[in-house]
Amino acid sequence: MDSNYIKFLNEDLTQLKLLLTPLIAQHITVVNDSVRCLNLACGRADESGILREVLAPYAEDLQIFGVDIRERELDVARSRWRSDPHTSYTFLYHDATKLHLINELAQLCDIVVMRHQNYWNGAITWQHIYDSALNRLSPDGILVITSYFDKEHFQAVQAIQQLGATLITTVRNPISRPVTDAPNKSVDRHIAIFKKQSNT
Ligand SMILES: C[S@@+](CC[C@H](N)C(=O)[O-])C[C@H]1O[C@@H](n2cnc3c(N)ncnc32)[C@H](O)[C@@H]1O
Repeated sequence: MDSNYIKFLNEDLTQLKLLLTPLIAQHITVVNDSVRCLNLACGRADESGILREVLAPYAEDLQIFGVDIRERELDVARSRWRSDPHTSYTFLYHDATKLHLINELAQLCDIVVMRHQNYWNGAITWQHIYDSALNRLSPDGILVITSYFDKEHFQAVQAIQQLGATLITTVRNPISRPVTDAPNKSVDRHIAIFKKQSNT
């Protein structure tokens, strides 16, 4: 990776952390000092470090699982993100529409993150992915999505609500970096948080 790209990547992640920190603080529910986080459709899982930084204050024992169907990207993630005594990383090659088949996810997760979810690339597949994600979320858990562009984001938000989740908030990233050669797309342009069930 060239140094300019790494600089952009780090700036994107710093901004994502800035936006996520207060949202997580407000909405996470922790039981027993243990947090299970599923990073769904994680690709190279560049955000693994900031997930650890944002979630570590809530967990003596933090378990972060990444799932994707691109083995090469998962290998990059595996070589980069190593477990330590407080945080374990597990990267799994699996179809995200069938999370119920993954033994490591038999226990429900406190938070599911889908950075740059890809509804536009196949609405039916992504509806199945969202459904599968909600199915692996604990009753008090939170689902976080980010999106590259407006229309895709609002369609994804609608699809997730139709599956029974409650939209808590959706935030427009004020300094989202434009994606080169993709007009109207930018990195983590929108972030939305859902609860599996309403608090009422
Ligand atoms: C737009 S990329 C986002 C990757 C990463 N989260 C990021 O922000 O850079 C969408 C990801 O969804 C993954 N994906 C698509 N369909 C999938 C499926 N059925 N199961 C698991 N991952 C899937 C792709 O391999 C890809 O890594």
